[in-house]
Amino acid sequence: MKNQEFYRLIKDIVTTKEFRDMRHYQHHIKGSVYNHSIKVAYLCYCHYKKYGLDMDLRRFVRAALLHDFYLYDWHDWIPGHRLHLFTHPQYALQNALRHYPDLSHRERDMIRNHMFPVTPWTIPETKAGWLICLYDKIAAVSDYLGENKWKGRERAM
Ligand SMILES: [Fe+2]
Ligand SMILES: [Fe+2]
Repeated sequence: MKNQEFYRLIKDIVTTKEFRDMRHYQHHIKGSVYNHSIKVAYLCYCHYKKYGLDMDLRRFVRAALLHDFYLYDWHDWIPGHRLHLFTHPQYALQNALRHYPDLSHRERDMIRNHMFPVTPWTIPETKAGWLICLYDKIAAVSDYLGENKWKGRERAM
């Protein structure tokens, strides 16, 4: 079953305290960073299953899960967060590397450059990097529309 395979791939990460804390960080008006990150990972997973990619599936999904792993609520008015839109990929990468130091070049590219073209100076270097740019934007639009098809599945975890 497709969904069971997806859960198996993400389980180790989404059950950690740090990742679960992301449920409390608001994102895109409606929803949390937690739900958004799982949504992006699921879209990447579906892409991989349909079209394939010259990259390990587990790593592709892992980087998608961690692309917004910056671990704070940007709505809190803290000076360092004022430029959140532009700086959070770097924080996400630092945190991801602290927990998963074996991140590959492609995974790092996905996390570091996922805000392109909002940050035009962070051009993706790999196909995986371009793909997460696409699916992050699609998920963001879905977040703004208040869609959360993953909610029931999340409770099952
Ligand atoms: Fe982001
Ligand atoms: Fe995102």
